[in-house]
Amino acid sequence: MDNLSIVTGSFATLQIPSLTLRQKSQVVPPDVSPEQLRHLIQEMFVCMYQAHGVGIAAPQVGVLWRLFVVDLQQRDPEQRPLVLVNPTFTEMADEIEPGTEGCLSIPGYHSDKVPRSRLVRIEGFDHNLEPITIEARDYLARVFQHEYDHLDGILYIDRLASMDDLIADAAQIKARQVTDRIYNAGTPVDAVPAM
Ligand code: NI
Repeated sequence: MDNLSIVTGSFATLQIPSLTLRQKSQVVPPDVSPEQLRHLIQEMFVCMYQAHGVGIAAPQVGVLWRLFVVDLQQRDPEQRPLVLVNPTFTEMADEIEPGTEGCLSIPGYHSDKVPRSRLVRIEGFDHNLEPITIEARDYLARVFQHEYDHLDGILYIDRLASMDDLIADAAQIKARQVTDRIYNAGTPVDAVPAM
């Protein structure tokens, strides 16, 4: 629990070059205090929502535990917020698809060419430490793989064939904002949802 108490004072999303993002996280101990776990999960959701993200992993808030949360309700109102503690992939289809990802820990960038498996089955424990199994395809499968990578200290940029596949958002967003202001009088511009 020591590693948790260090950071409970200020949860903020860590960004590159924080070394925490590059470390392998530890299994959440089965005897973790439910209150402490609930507190951490709440703080992770707060961080994620504040940053308009769709997922966040514990290492991104400085806690090296194998735990992440996901919320795709913005994309699909049917989706409920998900918590995965000590997750493992029990299935990962060979079919790989390039797709769009940004990361809360790498602000200002995204890529449209991050290769991920289209279909996965993930098993772990929910916020009450009850066993949970989820089969996911396409975007949810992608988010799971992105967040799971964080638990092993892997970032999506590590998955790119070339750094040329990394796109700087700032200039792009600025250009779009100018265009929007001219044509749509202030339509809000969404960046690529990060995770
Ligand atoms: Ni990320």
